[in-house]
Amino acid sequence: MSPSPAPPAAVPPGPAAGPAPTTDGGGGQECCGIILAGGSGTRLWPVTTPVCKQLLPVYDKPMVYYPLSVLMLAGVRDVLVISTPEDLGRFERLLGDGSQLGCRFSYLAQPRPEGLAQAFTLGARFIGGRRTALVLGDNIFHGTALRTRLRAAAAADGAVIFAYHVADPTRYGVVVFDPSGRPERVVEKPAEPISSFAVPGLYVFPGDVADVAAGVRPSARGEYEITDVINAYLERGELEVTILDRGTAWLDTGTFTSLMQAAQYVQVVEERQGLKVGCPEEVAWREGYIDDAQLAALAEPLRRSGYGEYLMGLVAGRRAWEAP
Ligand code: TTP
Repeated sequence: MSPSPAPPAAVPPGPAAGPAPTTDGGGGQECCGIILAGGSGTRLWPVTTPVCKQLLPVYDKPMVYYPLSVLMLAGVRDVLVISTPEDLGRFERLLGDGSQLGCRFSYLAQPRPEGLAQAFTLGARFIGGRRTALVLGDNIFHGTALRTRLRAAAAADGAVIFAYHVADPTRYGVVVFDPSGRPERVVEKPAEPISSFAVPGLYVFPGDVADVAAGVRPSARGEYEITDVINAYLERGELEVTILDRGTAWLDTGTFTSLMQAAQYVQVVEERQGLKVGCPEEVAWREGYIDDAQLAALAEPLRRSGYGEYLMGLVAGRRAWEAP
């Protein structure tokens, strides 16, 4: 497949973002982040034949903006994007080096989609012993108290995963709780519905996660499973499970139906509230990673799509009535 011509950067570099960001999740310890945005996307063929799923639009922005915003909301500013060798350059053109958002982005290829746990072995150098948040590039989170929960996870000591009640748990890794509500085990795509709580694609692990992942062997389906990494921490008594309640939306976008539903969800919320879901520029501005002038510089070239108008509106204080 020949590479497509380079489009203009959707997010041009803004003014210098100041000193290298500290990645402080709120508790004083450094937490870095990985977005895993490769995979095969076979359930979306032929759409994902020329381009990976995580660059497809979810309503008004590329899918990867949503998980990126989640990491930034957690206070994570040093982010590694892992994707296929074919798509990596496209992510780099879209997201740049991160300085325009007061962050630092780097890029790494996953030669073959051999499982989620590979994010840690491939990213071992980047991780460098730091606490690490992994988010899947096709997962969308939105809802009440999300920022608080994310910051708590980034600042915790042990591994933190989330649990979310779903209608069809056999499609996901699930967490089984014992009668006292403690996590007992995590099972990948159980044939029988043994728990209604799926594990969303957002995990935070302690600094030794690359070593733990290096000890994982491929499963029967030939993948390095994230569930094995999670269960290693569970066995050590170092796993915390935070339930995301029904006030939170967790959407994935792996099929035509779920992709359409996610887009509709975002459209409904955005049109009703006049506030964007998963807008990294806005998160950077609200979190104080960039200032008004930097946001205005990012907004200017995007005005024709309405995205830039929205960012300009923030700068102009036209939404000054909203809660801080
Ligand atoms: P999946 O939904 O399990 O797989 P997929 O995206 O390849 O799609 P399909 O089942 O349609 O073939 O992956 C979840 C997320 O993790 C998705 O964002 C792709 C990403 N991923 C990788 O980046 N590398 C991998 O090795 C795997 C297994 C997934």
